[in-house]
Amino acid sequence: MPSILIAGGAGFIGSNFARMWMRKHDGFKVIVFDKLTYAGNIDNLHDLLGREGFHFIKGDICDADAVANVFEEFKPDLVVNFAAETHVDRSLLSPGSFIMTDIYGVHTLLEACRKHQVKKFVQVSSDEVYGSLNEGAASETHQLRPRNPYSASKAGGDLMALAYFHTYNLPVVITRGCNTYGPYQHPEKFIPLLITNAIEDMPLPIYGDGMQIRDWLFVEDHCEAIELVIEFGEPGGIYNIAANQEIRNIDVAHLVLEMLGKPKTLIKYVADRPGHDRRYAMDATKLRSLNWTPKYRLEDGLRITVDWYRSNEWWWRKIREHPSFREYYRRMYEQRLWFDTPEEAIKHIHMPTSSV
Ligand SMILES: NC(=O)c1ccc[n+]([C@@H]2O[C@H](COP(=O)([O-])OP(=O)(O)OC[C@H]3O[C@@H](n4cnc5c(N)ncnc54)[C@H](O)[C@@H]3O)[C@@H](O)[C@H]2O)c1
Repeated sequence: MPSILIAGGAGFIGSNFARMWMRKHDGFKVIVFDKLTYAGNIDNLHDLLGREGFHFIKGDICDADAVANVFEEFKPDLVVNFAAETHVDRSLLSPGSFIMTDIYGVHTLLEACRKHQVKKFVQVSSDEVYGSLNEGAASETHQLRPRNPYSASKAGGDLMALAYFHTYNLPVVITRGCNTYGPYQHPEKFIPLLITNAIEDMPLPIYGDGMQIRDWLFVEDHCEAIELVIEFGEPGGIYNIAANQEIRNIDVAHLVLEMLGKPKTLIKYVADRPGHDRRYAMDATKLRSLNWTPKYRLEDGLRITVDWYRSNEWWWRKIREHPSFREYYRRMYEQRLWFDTPEEAIKHIHMPTSSV
């Protein structure tokens, strides 16, 4: 029976990917290997646990013995790595765990893949490795200019994966996705925070002037792109996954409020994140030549997402009500300066001082 190991499969994109793979690839053994950090959540897999062919193993990709054991037991043909520390804000507070998981952890997986001669290793990466672009769009050969500890760690993981391709001929493929949204995304991330705060009639914190531009991709489209790259991606290749639907953060907040029928007065501007990248944009011509095209327009994907959070309060309330989330929220937002206008907020930077 062919098998796929999904590292970080209890997180947001990984759990959506595991669900899609189980639905579309009958006869596959699917193994999710995940440390269950604050961002990992066994509830994300609630409908997969106990199903035939599905296995969940709790473990850390930095732990070479744990990784060796899971490879020994399941002998995966394919490995997709979603496991990472992923929140830029947290990377400003404690970069060490990002360097460990996003670089060293990638190396641990690569070593196991080399030993077991896996057929393909997909390293899931991010548009953030290209850094902020004032204009144009980064193709896969664009210079890497990461500007925060998260993106620098992701770039390190990418380079390590490519080194294993060039040095050991390991069939590595890298995907670089743009900002992704959809069901099961942790409520501390931008869009779920907007939605859940709005549902609770709490203020929506917008960093600086809210003019930062992101390209938003619905999670199903992201997962299908990775699936395509598993099948057709060239070893040693890098594939940008871009939706090409650029929008300013403030306009995303307006859309969310409109969909929930909440007033714009809920929007509040807060002191900006240090080194906040203004714009990300990628050219996905290479992936589109494999016949991939995103199916969801932002308005449609966002409506599905808003409806999902509205109907799945059991999922996010548990997280938001946990003392660790409350503490995170207090440190991140309550200690920040709040303003009614973007002109005031843009003059201030919030330098986080305590670790979360
Ligand atoms: N969300 C986005 O907008 C986006 C965009 C582009 C790329 N990506 C990349 O996609 C991947 C998944 O992102 P996400 O948003 O689903 O992240 P997430 O934070 O929701 O999930 C990360 C998962 O990795 C697990 N994990 C963390 N450290 C681990 C370790 N040491 N060992 C094993 N498991 C560990 C966590 O428990 C969690 O389940 C990441 O590599 C991220 O860089 C995300």
